[in-house]
Amino acid sequence: MFKRFRRLRINKNLRDLVRETSLHVEDFIYPLFVKSGEGIKKEIGSMPGVFQMSIDEVLKECKKIQELGLNSILLFGIPAVKDSVGSDALCEHGIIASAIKAIKKDFPDMFVITDVCFCEFTDHGHCGILDMENETVNNDATLEILVKQAVLHAKLGVDMIAPSGMMDGTIEVLREGLDAAGYENLPIMAYSTKFASAYYGPFRDVAESAPSFGDRRSYQMDPANRREAIAESVEDEMQGADILMVKPALAYLDIIREIKDATTTPMAIYNVSGEYAMLKAAGKAGVIDYERVMMETMIAFKRAGADIIISYHAKEVAEILSKK
Ligand code: PBG
Ligand code: ZN
Repeated sequence: MFKRFRRLRINKNLRDLVRETSLHVEDFIYPLFVKSGEGIKKEIGSMPGVFQMSIDEVLKECKKIQELGLNSILLFGIPAVKDSVGSDALCEHGIIASAIKAIKKDFPDMFVITDVCFCEFTDHGHCGILDMENETVNNDATLEILVKQAVLHAKLGVDMIAPSGMMDGTIEVLREGLDAAGYENLPIMAYSTKFASAYYGPFRDVAESAPSFGDRRSYQMDPANRREAIAESVEDEMQGADILMVKPALAYLDIIREIKDATTTPMAIYNVSGEYAMLKAAGKAGVIDYERVMMETMIAFKRAGADIIISYHAKEVAEILSKK
């Protein structure tokens, strides 16, 4: 009888030596939701541990997360006023503009990434300017305001932008616009393969960004399509994306692996709100060992090919890794 596999599992040191995949705090990006106002720290029912915070509270949070060794954050904004074209997103005194300034002033070493999209800023909740005839988002009109939003963030000192709206041609147009404005060194993390997913439900509560009519299926991808998923990321790589992304993550591990093998650009995955909410709920119900299931899930993302993990679990992961 040929015996080989158990020999390497007998001893913890040996298991550590032969482990193929590992997690580091540096792999993680932590999303933060910035709300207009002061003294606001409001927990979201479906996402325990995730808050809408005003800028003063976000600054306190930045201190805490840096102490945990986390140095990258992804900002989403909840403006005081929404309108049909998402004006707050293009205003120097808008919620995200103000947050970038405040964070970079107090935490110059914090790597600040911003969501570049309009769904949190429009009163209809769609990701760009509407084309009323078709009752959908107008691709090219939206590209124009995406460039303005990106250049504004660049001017205020953001470290990387993350366009999430799934408009065709986004990366090419943003790269051109940023270069023309003198921001050749600002990287773009593309939401290159983003599915129209029910796993975003809790996020839309936190970001107050649920579409007021229809859904996002005319711009986000059909979860059933594998070859198109690869083509989307390959296309963004050709257009000049610096980092690719697959979103959601847990139900799309096959897609993560295939895109990893089909491209040579670093890859992020977004462990989205519904994935977080499910583990939290199951942990609370006492049906799983929450910490172990959570860490196993994170390892699965890395094993599938993720270089970078965007996750609401990032703080918990950092704490667990620091105890090891
Ligand atoms: C907006 C955006 C969404 C998420 C990130 N950016 C929601 C959506 O497309 O409806 C989802 C994140 C999450 O569920 O955690 N473009
Ligand atoms: Zn959007």
